[in-house]
Amino acid sequence: MDNYLQVENLYKTYPGGVQALRGISLTLQNGMFGLLGPNGAGKSTLMRTLATLQPSDSGSIFFNGINTLEHPQYLRQRLGFLPQEFGVYPGITAVELLDYIGILKGLIHHKQRRNQVEKLLAMTNLTAHRRQYVHTFSGGMLRRFGIAQALLGAPQIIIVDEPTAGLDPEERNRFLNLLSEIGQDRIVLLSTHIVEDVERLCQQLAIVHDGQLVAEGSPADLIQPLHGCLWQKRVTPAQVDSFVARYTVLQVLLIGGQPNVIIYHPTQPDSAFLPVSPTLEHAYFLTRQTPAKV
Ligand SMILES: Nc1ncnc2c1ncn2[C@@H]1O[C@H](COP(=O)(O)OP(=O)(O)O)[C@@H](O)[C@H]1O
Ligand SMILES: [Mg+2]
Repeated sequence: MDNYLQVENLYKTYPGGVQALRGISLTLQNGMFGLLGPNGAGKSTLMRTLATLQPSDSGSIFFNGINTLEHPQYLRQRLGFLPQEFGVYPGITAVELLDYIGILKGLIHHKQRRNQVEKLLAMTNLTAHRRQYVHTFSGGMLRRFGIAQALLGAPQIIIVDEPTAGLDPEERNRFLNLLSEIGQDRIVLLSTHIVEDVERLCQQLAIVHDGQLVAEGSPADLIQPLHGCLWQKRVTPAQVDSFVARYTVLQVLLIGGQPNVIIYHPTQPDSAFLPVSPTLEHAYFLTRQTPAKV
């Protein structure tokens, strides 16, 4: 089924005055969509709002044409959500907890529910740990368990909030592979502050800063305008400040302890600068540098 989520002009101010969302508009279709932004950008706020766990001040959210503010049940019945802080009660095993969440999600037929639980345990590579207490799981196992519970009931939209934060490289890799498997015939919205996660998985992404979208498109769309505009030069540590003052410096990379500045400039400033092929990370850094000095 073709799903689509239309978010229009969402605003959210918390008590105390923090404006976490300042006019967010987005359209999502089946596939993996990455929400990229630094800590405090508003990613979790947007995700909790989309999951109908908290209201926005204004704006609208339509899922498959149904207004989720008027009819939250429609989206909730089709949603799998993995919150940023996924905690579990002590003293319950993986299989028991999945069974219990399955009941809450309305999977009332015992046998079908059990079948689904076993399939999800296998898919998330947790079958060997099915009788283990979930609160004793490692970080990576807990995230995979979090995905298993989010997938119960075959949701059409899955929202996962910073699922790779704190995982070691191997766990992170396994988790990203798992996400890419499930991102086929449904909407998967993934938030992260790690550019590489998005680059590896997502067909579409949006970059969010201070509650606003600053860029949106495919990774190629965002990288394309940077071709021919990135330059690098090896400098001495004492020169870095003057480069930052003069150019739009995207990155200062230390190579063998020596700084290399990477700048955004539509033309080669001088022959000592060498061209750099742009990556999504450069595009991300450029969104943090407005206006560009050219
Ligand atoms: N429950 C809350 N009450 C007050 N302020 C909040 C609350 N949750 C988040 N904020 C603030 O809203 C802003 C966005 O936070 P958040 O949505 O968690 O961003 P992100 O997930 O991108 O790190 C931050 O300034 C944060 O401090
Ligand atoms: Mg967050």
